[in-house]
Amino acid sequence: MGKKVKKQRPVNLDLLTIRFPITAISSILFRVSGVIVFMALGILLWLLDLSLSSPEGFKRAVVIMDCFFVKCILWGIMTILAFHTIGGIRHMLMDFGYLDKTLAVGRQSTWIIFGITFVFSIFFGVLVW
Ligand code: HEM
Repeated sequence: MGKKVKKQRPVNLDLLTIRFPITAISSILFRVSGVIVFMALGILLWLLDLSLSSPEGFKRAVVIMDCFFVKCILWGIMTILAFHTIGGIRHMLMDFGYLDKTLAVGRQSTWIIFGITFVFSIFFGVLVW
């Protein structure tokens, strides 16, 4: 009997058929963005230190920043920081009770933070290039 019940359990080993809700995706991205921002601090502080060290150091920082690949990384860091900041503000609005903790509000506010981040990412693209 026990064996039969086990066999009838629904199993889904095809991971590609699993669809995460938008709120789950943003939750994972929020954590990942926090870790990336933490690691990015090292790069940004190093670049700031280099640019402030001497006039030559500043020129070196300008040359480093002139590279397309470096610009892509900087644009990525700025976009991820914007996502984390906007997502963080959403978290705090929920914590302080300004946003309802319902599924509908959670989904709507998630789309809104994605939208605001998208606008910021375009702005950062214009700024960096
Ligand atoms: C140096 C910049 C920052 C770093 C390295 C950083 C890193 C992190 C990390 C690693 C987490 C944990 C994420 C998780 O457990 O899912 C976190 C959470 C959080 N961050 Fe940031 N963060 C930064 C800036 C900001 C800013 C600017 C805001 C502003 C709004 C913010 C708001 C929050 C909030 C509200 C949480 C907690 C969310 C919760 O309740 O689970 N963070 N941060």
